[in-house]
Amino acid sequence: MRIAIPLESNTHEFRVSATADGVKQYIKRGFDVVVQQQAGLGAFISDDDYIAAGAQIADDFASCCGHADLVLKVAAPNAEELAALPASATVICMAAPFTNPLLSDYAAHGLACFAMEMIPRISRAQSMDALSSQANIAGYKSVLVALEYYSHFMPMLMTAAGTVKPAKVLVMGAGVAGLQAIATARRLGALVEAFDVRAAAREQVESLGASFIEVPVEENAEDAGGYAREMSDDYKQKQAELIAQHAAKADIVITTALIPGRPAPILVTQEVVEQMRAGSVIVDMAVEMGGNCPLSVKDEVIQHRGVTVVGISNIPALMASDASQLYGRNIANFIDVLWQKDEQMLNINLDDEIIASALLCQNGTFLKPQLLERRS
Ligand code: NAI
Repeated sequence: MRIAIPLESNTHEFRVSATADGVKQYIKRGFDVVVQQQAGLGAFISDDDYIAAGAQIADDFASCCGHADLVLKVAAPNAEELAALPASATVICMAAPFTNPLLSDYAAHGLACFAMEMIPRISRAQSMDALSSQANIAGYKSVLVALEYYSHFMPMLMTAAGTVKPAKVLVMGAGVAGLQAIATARRLGALVEAFDVRAAAREQVESLGASFIEVPVEENAEDAGGYAREMSDDYKQKQAELIAQHAAKADIVITTALIPGRPAPILVTQEVVEQMRAGSVIVDMAVEMGGNCPLSVKDEVIQHRGVTVVGISNIPALMASDASQLYGRNIANFIDVLWQKDEQMLNINLDDEIIASALLCQNGTFLKPQLLERRS
């Protein structure tokens, strides 16, 4: 069974789907591993590291993946990569199931394709939860990114020249990324406030030493999967008033609010940005899904009346070493579920909830038509 680890082709992608240690583990278990030249460089893993781990090195995508049984990627294959994949291959990647325009092409090509984002958030699958491992990194790094553009200290400082006030940080959306942003900002000494539509987030926010801002409307904000729903107009109106009040006093705003498969809710309007102080910073982590701030521009940092708006879309890639290590482990743990050791083959057993949830297509059939219906 041959595993391929290609170089990621997206400009802003520095992660790789297996580290040298990960490759060593695959080889120990009897897999052959081919790594595309320079695949690990963005995460500071050299070709020599992979060779030392037992991998072969291939010159390009086609020679890396052309004879592979299992292709491990970070981002979903693009059209050119798809054309170079054997129809018999199984691909495991972050397939971007809600936005990727090529999903039905994967099926037509014959691939079996698994989306790591579709692995259910159940206890047995926690070690495979790439959404969480990457959101955790993004939350941490978002605070450090904000500090790059913030021209003050984060903690309170008493100096001979006077006292420096602590930064006020407002976090919108207290899921995995938001909670890590709160924890990181608190560790750096900021005063932190947070919003979330899910009432369950209150306890988690408060346990990190931040204040929870509650919108005074009784509404069930969670769907059956524990994710947020789109809220009523009444809720949105009251939330907007509170956001305007709190954002105007904040030095740093980090927005992470997402609703699976839907455009990100607009939370920080242009009007709100214009009420913020010059020198404040917004990091819009929802930019990939349209953004929580309409001023954010994907992969750009702009200024609007002295407020910096950061729209970096792939924040985990800015910490490519740990992001690759954790993502690689998520994939390896998922392969454990698929791997039939006695027969030395993959067993796509659709009775297993984890496998059935993550599988997008196989044998020419697209198995998640609801993903395409949502878009039309
Ligand atoms: P996400 O990335 O889908 O969304 C981020 C946050 O934005 C969520 O907390 C959501 O409630 C919030 N949000 C959405 N619309 C909002 C609005 N209009 N205003 C303010 N906040 C808004 O969320 P993530 O981080 O993927 O977590 C989703 C759920 O999954 C959570 O309930 C989390 O606790 C749960 N989870 C469960 C895990 C497990 O059991 N293994 C692992 C990780 C997360």
